[in-house]
Amino acid sequence: MTIIPSRTMVCCAVFAAAFAALPVSAEDKYALKAPNGIPFADFKGYENWTPVNLSVTETGLKLIAANDVMIKAYRSGIPGNGKPFPEGAKIAKIQWTRKDNPEAPFAVQVTDKQQFVELIEKDSKKYAGTHGWGYAEFIYDPAKDSFNTEGDDAQRVVNGACNTCHEIVAGKDFIFTSYAHR
Ligand code: HEC
Repeated sequence: MTIIPSRTMVCCAVFAAAFAALPVSAEDKYALKAPNGIPFADFKGYENWTPVNLSVTETGLKLIAANDVMIKAYRSGIPGNGKPFPEGAKIAKIQWTRKDNPEAPFAVQVTDKQQFVELIEKDSKKYAGTHGWGYAEFIYDPAKDSFNTEGDDAQRVVNGACNTCHEIVAGKDFIFTSYAHR
């Protein structure tokens, strides 16, 4: 029988308690699931995906970035050539509020606080009911430095709102954003 020294036990108990009390932070956000069951972990590494394009609203800035499968497809002419994006294509829209850059000598705005990340992935079998795309959204709370699925926005994945609006661009395989020249 192995005898565990009591100091080790105390140390482990302290660690376990510390971790249990942590909010969903950058490290464990991938344990979250969208209200429709799509795991955040499906999109692991989205922080490093290649930019497709940028967009701006009255109050926010957005970066649209895609995984290698989807970037390759964009560069091959999809969806303009009428072909659909392939299985495994994944795309993220990361949104921030915006603010003036106080150091710049001309008027320019930069990201302020992250608001959310919206994600779409192609799996024609799994998401046959929504044209082959699965939709997920995770809201970022800067005060807690953690993501959650609370509020009406994140709930839209279960009432079909994401898919319904993206049907506007059915002719572009349900993806609004085009690949920006660079
Ligand atoms: C009322 C219409 C509408 C709804 C609802 C909507 N979207 Fe979109 N979505 C857009 C538009 C328009 C764009 C492109 C403009 C932009 O940059 O926001 C877009 C862009 C995206 C992108 C970038 C790829 C692309 O298609 O351009 C993702 C990812 C995305 N939406 C996910 C979602 C998710 C997830 C939901 C539901 C939680 C959702 N959207 C709900 C209209 C909508």
